[in-house]
Amino acid sequence: MRRRYDDSSWGQFFFDVRGLPSFFGKFRRLQRLVDWSLAHENILHLKNWDELPRVVVDKVDDFNAVLSLSIVDDKTDVMLKLAPAISAAFRGRVGAWVARPGYVSDDENWVRYELVDSSHSYQLRPEKLADYRPHGDEIKLDQMHSVHASSNSGWIIAGSTGSGKSIEALNILLQFMLMRRRSGKDSKGESKVVEAPLLYGVDFKRGEMAKLFASSDLPRENWTTGAPGEPNVSYVLDLVIEQHEKRQAELSNVKSITANSWKIGHAPVVLILEEFGSGLATLPKKEAEDVVRKVKLLAMQGRSSLSGGIILISQQASAQGTGLTTDILQQFSNKIGKGRMRPQERQYLMPGFELSEKAWPKNSGWGYLFNDALNVPVEYRGMFPNRPNADEWLGQAIIKAINKNIAINAKLAKE
Ligand SMILES: Nc1ncnc2c1ncn2[C@@H]1O[C@H](COP(=O)(O)OP(=O)(O)OP(=O)(O)O)[C@@H](O)[C@H]1O
Ligand SMILES: [Mg+2]
Repeated sequence: MRRRYDDSSWGQFFFDVRGLPSFFGKFRRLQRLVDWSLAHENILHLKNWDELPRVVVDKVDDFNAVLSLSIVDDKTDVMLKLAPAISAAFRGRVGAWVARPGYVSDDENWVRYELVDSSHSYQLRPEKLADYRPHGDEIKLDQMHSVHASSNSGWIIAGSTGSGKSIEALNILLQFMLMRRRSGKDSKGESKVVEAPLLYGVDFKRGEMAKLFASSDLPRENWTTGAPGEPNVSYVLDLVIEQHEKRQAELSNVKSITANSWKIGHAPVVLILEEFGSGLATLPKKEAEDVVRKVKLLAMQGRSSLSGGIILISQQASAQGTGLTTDILQQFSNKIGKGRMRPQERQYLMPGFELSEKAWPKNSGWGYLFNDALNVPVEYRGMFPNRPNADEWLGQAIIKAINKNIAINAKLAKE
């Protein structure tokens, strides 16, 4: 491989891209910088020059570029080391740019790293309901990260108090509640809703989630706080299992092996479990075991083919805190850890990664995200409505969406 280093010299290399008028030039320079770091600083500690990856930088928009590197063969450890190495190589040279690990290509020969301008905020600030409406089954988390709900079911959101767990759960819930399936045309030529999402919930905390359920038209049997006189937790879970089984039966009639519930037109079934682990400890042992067994079953069913998901919120990221042993935890595709977490908690949630301790302030919504589609956990800031009384607005928007879904499904059932 022949390389030109006409604008660099050994040990000296300085770029400050922020002042560059041309974005095209900025990305070209990034590409050269990465090339240079790989070859001259040997940040991958290569012993053989043949292994030197080819680097391609593609401009996405004025703030983002995708950096692709050809990986010779299995270099998982290299892939993991590369993002911090490249970020370190940029430091002091290209201002506020950092490399974030992105995705492995389908053929696994390419790794995509996102070059992001860390002085730019990637937080989503929705201003109206339409900003929450998902495209297909895609749940947005910030401007950089989103999740296909039909192939990544199961969400665990853990973190210290005030870290933004409930807001995150509501962000996800609202997007789920707006995933209405449409097809055909009505007399006005508009596409008709054929199915609206279903919601079930357990709020052991008896907090804002229970209040939200209670202020909506949600049938009383769909949710509980586990208190005497309310539906049994087991009973509510049975209703969700029933829905899953109904969908699985319909799914088994479809020939395609890659079909999932979403692809054949089902709207999501969502189960919210607020402060699940601590609540579990208050149930009689037999019942608690039964409940855990059912959650495991639901998480597994969700993984195999069903759209929708379980959103489990917990302060403590531990088996006791979440009520879930690590084998059950593995059935959840998406793990979110917010605010302050102890190292053991990060290990429980995202095993195998040594994540740095972050002093994320309370009420900021910052956290780590990890799921099946990511190489390594990424930092991100959850979305937050750009409105006065944002918490209240979000809650009311969800209540309206739930009520509309119930009305739609009731009307469909009559037809
Ligand atoms: N992504 C965000 N961006 C900006 N502010 C946020 C974000 N998420 C949460 N907040 C702020 O932080 C406050 C606390 O968030 P939230 O109620 O979700 O925390 P929590 O983790 O559920 O706390 P608790 O453990 O007490 O239930 C919210 O009222 C909101 O004002
Ligand atoms: Mg909360």
